[in-house]
Amino acid sequence: MGTLRLFPDQASTIAPEVDHLLYFLLAVAVFFTLGIFLSILYFAIRYRRRSDRELPHVIHGGLTLEILWSVIPFGLTMVMFTWGASVFFRESRPPDHALQIYVVGKQWMWKLQHMEGQREINELHIPLGRPVRLTMTSEDVIHSFYVPAFRTKQDVVPGRYSTTWFQPTKAGRYHLFCAEYCGTNHSRMIGWIDVMEPQDYQNWLSGGAPQGTLAESGQKLFESLACVNCHKADGTGRCPSLVGVFGNTVHLAGGGTVTANEEYIRESILRPDAKIVAGYQPVMPTFQGLVTEEGVVQLIEYIKSLGQKPGGTGR
Ligand code: CUA
Repeated sequence: MGTLRLFPDQASTIAPEVDHLLYFLLAVAVFFTLGIFLSILYFAIRYRRRSDRELPHVIHGGLTLEILWSVIPFGLTMVMFTWGASVFFRESRPPDHALQIYVVGKQWMWKLQHMEGQREINELHIPLGRPVRLTMTSEDVIHSFYVPAFRTKQDVVPGRYSTTWFQPTKAGRYHLFCAEYCGTNHSRMIGWIDVMEPQDYQNWLSGGAPQGTLAESGQKLFESLACVNCHKADGTGRCPSLVGVFGNTVHLAGGGTVTANEEYIRESILRPDAKIVAGYQPVMPTFQGLVTEEGVVQLIEYIKSLGQKPGGTGR
């Protein structure tokens, strides 16, 4: 029986919290299931009909009972709601200093990129004790990034970024699964998360990324795709300068504003006519099909590296 394990490892800060909530829900469910089952049994025997002439006396409701069976379930469900919501909020909000990793799902593999430029397939190396934030998208269909030991599961949807985060608490090697049916080899879309001691992680990182950091790869793409010809840094080009755009408010033609986040930049690369910056013409062609999802991520990191002007406008 020593090897019988009902739960996977608890290897992230959120894992014990998720498990405690689950234990509570299980306890409530078991308590009421047993209670109802035993009551039915008891009533069936205790109040069975003993003769043909026997008639029960009529009951016209009971106020105390009705209040009790309304207030108790209400209280219990409110506990479930507030407890569940607080775990959900913690799980949905990555801390600011989290390590950034980009994930692209594809039939049938996980492609992962580190800020330092390391790229991995179906394997992710991360340091112990640091929060890790994943920004994820898919090249084809919906996948789902699922690490049972971290109690983390997040859909990875084509055409948009979804994020999740976790902070590993135990070094080791943990399974990564795809948890959304995505075609023939869905069941083989499996990977590993390697949680390493911080020093080992540094050694692993210094193993090198021949192609340079994400931002450097992005800069090369920016030049080779000729973006640089229109998006001149000094703002004299036919398209807005991208210096200091990231994180700021952009004013759009026809009124309205948008915050220049990852989602906005991705859209502007793939569907440039979706949002036109005020004062500019819709002259940019789409780069759909010319740049991969991984390339988009590199471009985003390059644009981020151009700085964030505090309180400025986006052009
Ligand atoms: Cu990817 Cu299932």
